[in-house]
Amino acid sequence: MKEDQRPLHLHNPQRNKLSITKLFTHTTAYVIIVLLSYTLGYLSHSSPPQQQQQQLLQLSQLNPPSVFQLANLPSQLDNFRVTTHCSNSPLPPHLVFPTVLDRVFNGSSPYTNFPPPYLRSFLKQKRIKGWGSDGAVFENLIKRVKPRVIIEVGTFLGASALHMVNLTRKIGLQTQILCLDDFRGWPGFRDRFKDINTINGDVLLLQQFMQNVVYFNATRSVLPVPFSTASGLQKLCEWGITADLIEIDAGHDFISAWGDINRAYRILRPGGVIFGHDYFTAADNRGVRRAVNLFAQINNLKIKTDGQHWVIDTALAIQI
Ligand SMILES: C[S@@+](CC[C@H](N)C(=O)[O-])C[C@H]1O[C@@H](n2cnc3c(N)ncnc32)[C@H](O)[C@@H]1O
Repeated sequence: MKEDQRPLHLHNPQRNKLSITKLFTHTTAYVIIVLLSYTLGYLSHSSPPQQQQQQLLQLSQLNPPSVFQLANLPSQLDNFRVTTHCSNSPLPPHLVFPTVLDRVFNGSSPYTNFPPPYLRSFLKQKRIKGWGSDGAVFENLIKRVKPRVIIEVGTFLGASALHMVNLTRKIGLQTQILCLDDFRGWPGFRDRFKDINTINGDVLLLQQFMQNVVYFNATRSVLPVPFSTASGLQKLCEWGITADLIEIDAGHDFISAWGDINRAYRILRPGGVIFGHDYFTAADNRGVRRAVNLFAQINNLKIKTDGQHWVIDTALAIQI
């Protein structure tokens, strides 16, 4: 190997010295930069995370935020946003049925020529079953509110809806009742209702409900709205349909009850009453009660109970 081809750091002492100095300078600069960044980072944090958490905890203990405040933080409120724009002009009560007939049933009554011949042998003349469907709450509220429009969210075979027809008739009201239900029941409900027939996998719940309405001569007072509660309530809102009295009795888990109550509240006439079943039931991990309580807390409303039902009367809303 020639001299000038040898590695410099081994055999050229002067150059070696230079490289060592260079290396030292680089390392020192590097160490200084690291130290500086660390110091700056340290200084820019007023307190370490643990200390901050402690401070926050102490603050919230001194002045705990209410659910109302939490829900009104801009980021939280954003989670409550809805896509539907409700109509700005609520329909007068006498236009509620014509609007639903027009929008849902192409302008003709679903009861016309009902039941069709092919269905007759599959339906009972009347088949009613409900849960707490004739509790005193119905009479108490109908007498007090004197509703022109009632919306029932969760109808099944119509036990509570038909009870409300009787009550309104008794005091001479001409109330219109919309029954919002997908009329599918719930998975497995036929284990208990084997006598409700199916045709090609389609359970005849809507048809049996309509037959019950026909049997009780209530076709002028009761109209089914056969959709999911979520999409149905949204549409009613868009069409400008509002109600004086709204009963919530569909899904009983927290998320279903929460969605139904919030959506229904948007179509409650100011000063109207929203109420529902199963406030005390332990079913679905007390989903109904948790949803009602949270809703009332956030909206600063008062809950009353009547039998197994919860009642929120917006005429009694606490003003803040
Ligand atoms: C407990 S029953 C209603 C009973 C009725 N209120 C009575 O007392 O006679 C519940 C009803 O809610 C309906 N339902 C449940 N979840 C629903 C949803 N997401 N959309 C539409 N209907 C639903 C079911 O089809 C069922 O008919």
